Amino acid sequence: MTWFDQTEFERLRLAQGVTWGRPVRALSQTTSTNDEALAAIASDALSGIVWIAREQTQGRGRRGNHWVAPAGDCLMLSALLRHPGPPERMLGLSLVVGLAVRDLVSEVFAEQGIEKDACIKWPNDVYVEGKKLAGILIETRFDKSGQLGVVLGLGLNVHTLSFPNSLPDATSLRMLGVGSSSLGYETLLAGFLRALEKRVSRFLTGGISRFIEELNERDALRGKSVRVGDITGQGVGMDEGGRLLLETEGGKTVAIETGHVELLR
Ligand code: BTN
Repeated sequence: MTWFDQTEFERLRLAQGVTWGRPVRALSQTTSTNDEALAAIASDALSGIVWIAREQTQGRGRRGNHWVAPAGDCLMLSALLRHPGPPERMLGLSLVVGLAVRDLVSEVFAEQGIEKDACIKWPNDVYVEGKKLAGILIETRFDKSGQLGVVLGLGLNVHTLSFPNSLPDATSLRMLGVGSSSLGYETLLAGFLRALEKRVSRFLTGGISRFIEELNERDALRGKSVRVGDITGQGVGMDEGGRLLLETEGGKTVAIETGHVELLR
């Protein structure tokens, strides 16, 4: 039996009216699904093609970090979005992908009767109970006609039962109590793509401001002390442009457009 059943995925895709995932390129091993998708931007690959891998040998995270996961433990995928508009309009897209992950996770929790909630940790992580369940890596490249191609990369911990000491704040669906009936990659992928295509199409027509209220309700950093670069403050939400708002000790509110957030204990 193969690790990813294309027939089963296609059945779920059609039953749920999902248009992305036509096709899904399922790989037992690759360097990185983002590499596969970025390379496809040079060809005529269409929006909605998805690469999914059982194992990555050079998985990437943000800021040059590695994304390491034992083979078969993690949902690792990249979806391609062609010609979505100019790069400056893509700000906030990782938050929108985060909301799609949250949609999927909420559905899985509801199916399993689990009363837990997933939150978005600005700008690209999904947290449950203070631990990282998923990370998002968005990469872009221009094609030969000068049009933008965007790769939406997701790593969602699924089967992992324990993480190395270097990742004390990581969790997986399994560790959160999700039973195996909801953990099939075909089911998870179809559910994620269903949420993703809705969220992304709304983002492309209306921008990030349409999601801010929801993001502020699900903000993992609200009330937390954090440091971003040389700014330290308390998370007080996100502004209309999806920027992180920090209130500094002097009572000033600072809007942050990019950077790595360090949670202070
Ligand atoms: C992060 O937490 O910094 C983002 C991690 C993103 C990992 C996913 S796994 C699938 C895709 N391919 C990669 O090389 N990275 C992303």
